[in-house]
Amino acid sequence: MKISAIEFSFSYTFNTIIKNSNQKMKSKLEASTTIFHTMTELANKHEAINLSQGFPGFNPDKRLLNMVSDFVHGENNQYAPMSGVPELRASISKKIEKYNGRKIHTDNEITVTDGATEALFSVIMTVVHPGDEVIVFDPAYDNYEPAVILAGGITKHVPLIKSQENPDYHIDWQILKESINKKTKLIILNFPHNPTGAILCENDLDELAEVLNKNDIYLMSDEVYEHIVFDGNRHHSLACHDDLWSRSFVISSFGKTFHATGWKIGYCIAPKKLTDEMRLIHQWSCYSVVTPIQLAIAKFMHTYPEYIDTLSDFYESKRDLFCSLLEKSNFNFRPSAGSFYQLLDYSQISKEKDVIFAEKLTKEIGVASIPISVFYGNPPNEQKLRFCFAKDDSVIEEAAKRLCSL
Ligand SMILES: Cc1ncc(COP(=O)(O)O)c(C=O)c1O
Repeated sequence: MKISAIEFSFSYTFNTIIKNSNQKMKSKLEASTTIFHTMTELANKHEAINLSQGFPGFNPDKRLLNMVSDFVHGENNQYAPMSGVPELRASISKKIEKYNGRKIHTDNEITVTDGATEALFSVIMTVVHPGDEVIVFDPAYDNYEPAVILAGGITKHVPLIKSQENPDYHIDWQILKESINKKTKLIILNFPHNPTGAILCENDLDELAEVLNKNDIYLMSDEVYEHIVFDGNRHHSLACHDDLWSRSFVISSFGKTFHATGWKIGYCIAPKKLTDEMRLIHQWSCYSVVTPIQLAIAKFMHTYPEYIDTLSDFYESKRDLFCSLLEKSNFNFRPSAGSFYQLLDYSQISKEKDVIFAEKLTKEIGVASIPISVFYGNPPNEQKLRFCFAKDDSVIEEAAKRLCSL
């Protein structure tokens, strides 16, 4: 396998963008203010409960905040090493061994990034070159496609499906097989899934390995909700699987794990050969990430390793509260299996398009959500909205009360 980030230069990329950005691509990039920004602005304007953007409505653990404060007041306010402070890389390595059973090299296989977003961008810029195809599963988090376009690549949208035997969103392996061709360079996965809350089962990893058996396609696995999985299930990281690991970039976010999305700290783990390539982009786009917060997270993970084990229960009770309050409403739903999002189907209430209906809910009953159509290349005609339940119970109760009035 060969990727050519080594030959990469920013002038090359810039020229590539100019040359390869046809009008459709350009207008897509120019026109797109993210829906999260748009819905949050609308929520603020109408003083609505904001269940649209995916951020917790509460602060990180006080003990972690105190550690941040201590490190900020100590002499820890200059540039961190490009790959992340050694203490944090050591904590990440320990965590991966505990949860994924893989020993990864602290110096060679871990890169601390400016949130998962920077990791996603750096990986896409590393792997994707003009004309390459990238498979994303729709509905898909909306950050992937713009990065693919900027790299000169082409996004191929493959649907997650639901069936009678399996009514949860899942990958259809036959459809995936048929979508792969010689130009396919990268497949992007995201489980636990935003926006549907779907998770992978162990068998899925073997199925994926089987599909990829005879080609050298890379994998980028966005696992930012890895520690939020419900109903006694567990997260199956691509890092757990030997065959998949050799071609994978696995990305996570401390923003989601520590209720601190504003800190923008994440990481990318990958085998050394891939990490070396990815760091070539990371070093020029971001270089390094805020030092005292890295040190505080490292110390917190070391001192309170049990914190992460509490996260699924914490969010499961919020999911259960939201779902139980909506049981008698006119919304249909299957409780989310992971992440902190719940999809609600409003087809019994209205047949209006989801963007219109989401706006109406924000303005008229004061609850903001995200219309599911924005997560699709070609949106199906579905009446579904995504609600973030990472909020205080009183906020969830008030939002549910308003939703039950419909
Ligand atoms: C699936 C997914 N990936 C990545 C991110 C971005 O993570 P970060 O805030 O660490 O950049 C989000 C944020 O909502 C997300 O939902």
